[in-house]
Amino acid sequence: MAHEFKDIDPNAPAGAKLTNWFENRFPTAFDAYRVHMSEYYAPKNFNFWYIFGSLALLVLVIQIVTGIFLVMHYKPDAEKAFASVEYIMRDVPWGWLIRYMHSTGASAFFVVVYLHMFRGLLYGSYRKPRELVWIFGCAIFLVLMAEAFMGYLLPWGQMSYWGAQVIVNLFSAIPFIGPDLALLIRGDYVVGDATLNRFFSFHVIAVPLVLLGLVVAHLLALHDVGSNNPDGIEIKGPNAPKDAKGHPLDGIPFHPYYTVHDIFGVTVFLFLFSAVVFFAPEFGGYFLEYNNFIPADPLKTPSHIAPVWYFTPFYSMLRAITSEMMYVLIACVVLGAGFGVLKSRLPAAVKGVVAVVALGVIAMMLSIDAKFWGVVVMGGAVIILFALPWLDCSPVKSIRYRPSWHKYLYGIFVINFVILAYLGVQPPSPIGERVSQVGTLFYFGFFLLMPWWSRLGKTKPVPDRVTFKPH
Ligand code: HEM
Repeated sequence: MAHEFKDIDPNAPAGAKLTNWFENRFPTAFDAYRVHMSEYYAPKNFNFWYIFGSLALLVLVIQIVTGIFLVMHYKPDAEKAFASVEYIMRDVPWGWLIRYMHSTGASAFFVVVYLHMFRGLLYGSYRKPRELVWIFGCAIFLVLMAEAFMGYLLPWGQMSYWGAQVIVNLFSAIPFIGPDLALLIRGDYVVGDATLNRFFSFHVIAVPLVLLGLVVAHLLALHDVGSNNPDGIEIKGPNAPKDAKGHPLDGIPFHPYYTVHDIFGVTVFLFLFSAVVFFAPEFGGYFLEYNNFIPADPLKTPSHIAPVWYFTPFYSMLRAITSEMMYVLIACVVLGAGFGVLKSRLPAAVKGVVAVVALGVIAMMLSIDAKFWGVVVMGGAVIILFALPWLDCSPVKSIRYRPSWHKYLYGIFVINFVILAYLGVQPPSPIGERVSQVGTLFYFGFFLLMPWWSRLGKTKPVPDRVTFKPH
C-alpha cells in the first residue's frame, strides 16, 4: 500500500525538512526504526546477562569488517597461504592488527555466545513463546562452529592442517556413505589445495550469508514475541499492566534506554578485547596455537593435535566414547527403554515401538565401531540444545523462583562443561578418559532427565510485576 505523503511546515528547520524528505520516500526504514528501536518496549529489569546479544552483534561486525581486509591480502593456495598470512603480519600496514582482531574475535565470539546461551538457560528464555528465537540461536551456534572450523584451516599451519584432517576423517566413520562423504568434503584423498579452496569459499561468503540471515531471523522472531527478563514474567501479555497508550508499564523503549546501556557494555568489552589483541593475542596458545606458527607439513603429524578451546568440550565427548564406554551407553539405552516399557503410562502400541527401536539401536551399537558413536555423541551434544524448550517442564521460567538446588545443578553443569573443555586440550590419559566419560554422562543426563528433575522441588512465589530497583 502506498504511504501518504506527510506535509511539513515550510518554516521548519532544515534538518526536519531533510528527515521529512527521506521519510516520504522511504517510510519502511522509518517504520522499522520505530518498531525495532524507539517503540520497541523491552523489560526495564534487564541485568548484566542481557548485554551479550548486542556484544555478539558487535563481534559479528568486527569479524566481517576485519575479514574483508584480510581477504585483500590472503592467498587461498596451499603453496602460498601460510606465507600470505606472514606477509599480512609483517609487511601489510596494520595487517597485524587486522589479523589479531580477527583471530581474537573468533574466540571472543564463542565467549560471548556461550554466556548469551547460558543466560537463556538461567531465565528460561527458550520457553513458550520464544521457542523459535532459541531454535534460530541453536542454528546460529552450529553455523558458527562450521565457520570457525573452516576459518582455522586457512592459515595452513600444522594445527590447521592436522585438525582439519582429524575432523574430516571423522565423517568417514559413518557407515556406508562415510568414506565418500569425507572425500566430497576434502575434494581429495587427503586435506589439500582443493580443501583449502572450498573452505575459503565457504568461510568468506557462503556461511557468513547464512549466519547473517539467521541473525536477522533470530532478532525478528525475538521482536515479534518480545524479550524475556530475569524474572521470567511476560510484560506484554493480555494481563500485563499497560499505560493509556497500551505500552507495557514494565517496559522502556529500547532507544534511548538500552542503546545507552549497551554502549557502556560495548566499552567495557572493547577494553578487554583490546587488552588481548595488544598484549596477549595468542592467549597462552589457547586463541592461536603455537604449533600453528609452523607451516603445514603433510609428512609430519604433530604428537598432540587439539582443537581450539571453544570446540574442546565436544571433542572431549568424542574421545570419551571408547569401545568400553559403549557398554555403559548400551546399559543407558536398556534402562531408558525398560523404564518406557515397564513404568511409563504410554499406550501399549507405543511401548511396543519403544522396545523394537531400542533393540534395533542396541544391535547397531554392538555392530558399528565406537568411533562412529563418538561422532554421534559429539553431534548429539549440540543437537540436544534444540530440544531444550520441550525438555524443561519446570512450572516457572526463571532460576530466581526455582528451588535453590536447581542453582547448584546449573553450577555443576557449568563446572562439568569447563572440565570437559580442559580435558579436550590435554593429551589423552587414562584418568582424563574416565573423567570425560563421567562428564559426558552428566551432560546428557542433565538434558535427557530434565523433564523429570525440572518438575521436582518447591518453587518460590512469582511476583505479578518485574522486580526493579532504580539506580
Ligand atoms: C551471532 C550470534 C548471536 C547474535 C548476534 C544474537 C543476538 C541477540 C540479541 C541482540 C538479542 C537481544 C538482546 C539479548 O537478549 O541479549 C538476543 C536474544 C536472545 N538470543 Fe541471541 N544471538 C546470537 C546467538 C544466540 C544463540 C547461539 C542462542 C541460543 C542457542 C541465542 C538465544 C537467544 C535467546 C533465547 C534470546 C532471548 C533472550 C531473552 O529474551 O531473555 N542467541 N540474541
